[in-house]
Amino acid sequence: MNTTRSSPAETDGAEPVLQQHFDATIARDQRIEPRDWMPEGYRRTLIRQIAQHAHSEIIGMQPEGEWITRAPSLRRKAILFAKVQDEAGHGLYLYSAAETLGADRADLTGRLIEGRQKYSSIFNYPTLSFADVGVIGWFVDGAAICNQVPLCRSSYGPYARAMVRICKEESFHQRQGYELLMTMMRGTREQREMVQDAVNRWWWPSLMMFGPPDDASPNSAQSMAWKIKRHSNDELRRRFVDMTVPQAEKLGVTLPDPELRWNEERGHHDFGTPDWDELMRVIKGDGPCNDQRMERRRTAHEEGSWVREAATAHAAKQAAREPKGAVA
Ligand SMILES: [Fe+2]
Ligand SMILES: [Fe+2]
Repeated sequence: MNTTRSSPAETDGAEPVLQQHFDATIARDQRIEPRDWMPEGYRRTLIRQIAQHAHSEIIGMQPEGEWITRAPSLRRKAILFAKVQDEAGHGLYLYSAAETLGADRADLTGRLIEGRQKYSSIFNYPTLSFADVGVIGWFVDGAAICNQVPLCRSSYGPYARAMVRICKEESFHQRQGYELLMTMMRGTREQREMVQDAVNRWWWPSLMMFGPPDDASPNSAQSMAWKIKRHSNDELRRRFVDMTVPQAEKLGVTLPDPELRWNEERGHHDFGTPDWDELMRVIKGDGPCNDQRMERRRTAHEEGSWVREAATAHAAKQAAREPKGAVA
C-alpha cells in the first residue's frame, strides 16, 4: 500500500465543506479519527512523525540491549529485559497507529532499512558502561516523557491514545534509570566516576533529542496549528533542563555545562547551546554508531523473515479453514 494515499474519490468537489469540518474539529480540541476526512498534508505529516517515532523505539532497543547479557545481577537483568521489551511494544503500537492512516508496516520498515526514514539521533551513541543504562533511563526516557506527555493530547485519536500507555511505561523507565544511578552513587568511587562519565557523554545528545532550535525548525508551526504538536522544540528542551537540574543535585552529579544556572527573573535555567553541527552530522548518518545500528536492524529483519512467512502461511490456513462470516 502507498503511504501517500489520496482522499477517497467521493470527496471530490466537497473538499471545502470537509476542510471546514476538519478545521472546526481541531479548533474545538476534538479528535480526528481514522475514518474522518483529513487534508493530505496532515496525513503525510502524521505518517512521517509516527513512523519516525516507531523506528526510534525499535532502534532504541539496541544500545541498552547490548547490556542484557552483562547486567551485574539477576534483578538488573530482569529489569533491563522488561524495559527493552517495552520499547518493542511501543514500536508496535506506533506502527499500528500509522496503519490507521493508510500506511503499511512492511513499507515503513523498508523505508527505515533503506535509510529513507529517520529515527532519533540519540540512539547513534555508544553505551560504554553499565552506568549508561541508568543515564539513558534518566535522560533519554526523561526527554521522551517531556516530548510525549503533550502528545497524549495530540489531535489524531489513535496516536494520542497510544501515547497514554507509552508514557506510563516511559515513566517507569525513567525511574528505573534513576534508581540504578542512586545505587551506583552509594557504591565505590569507581562506580560514582562511571556515573559522572556517562552523564558527561549523554547530556548534550539528550538536549539535541528535542530537535533543532525553533528558528531552524520550519515544519513546527504547521504541526502546532494542526495540534499534532503542542509545544515548540525550545520550550520542551527548557522544561527538560528545569526538570533535570534538581534531580542531578540530589544524585550528586555535575551536568557538563558551565553556562547552566538558575535565572531568577525568567523562572527558568539558563543553559549553553548544543553543538547543532554535531546533530546534523549524526542525523545525516555520520554519528558514532549509525552504521552499526542500521546493520543490526537489517540483519534482524533478514533473520526474522522465516517468522513472517510462517505467520502469514498460518493466517492463510486459518482463514481457509473458517467458514465465511464465522466469528472467532
Ligand atoms: Fe519507548
Ligand atoms: Fe523508554
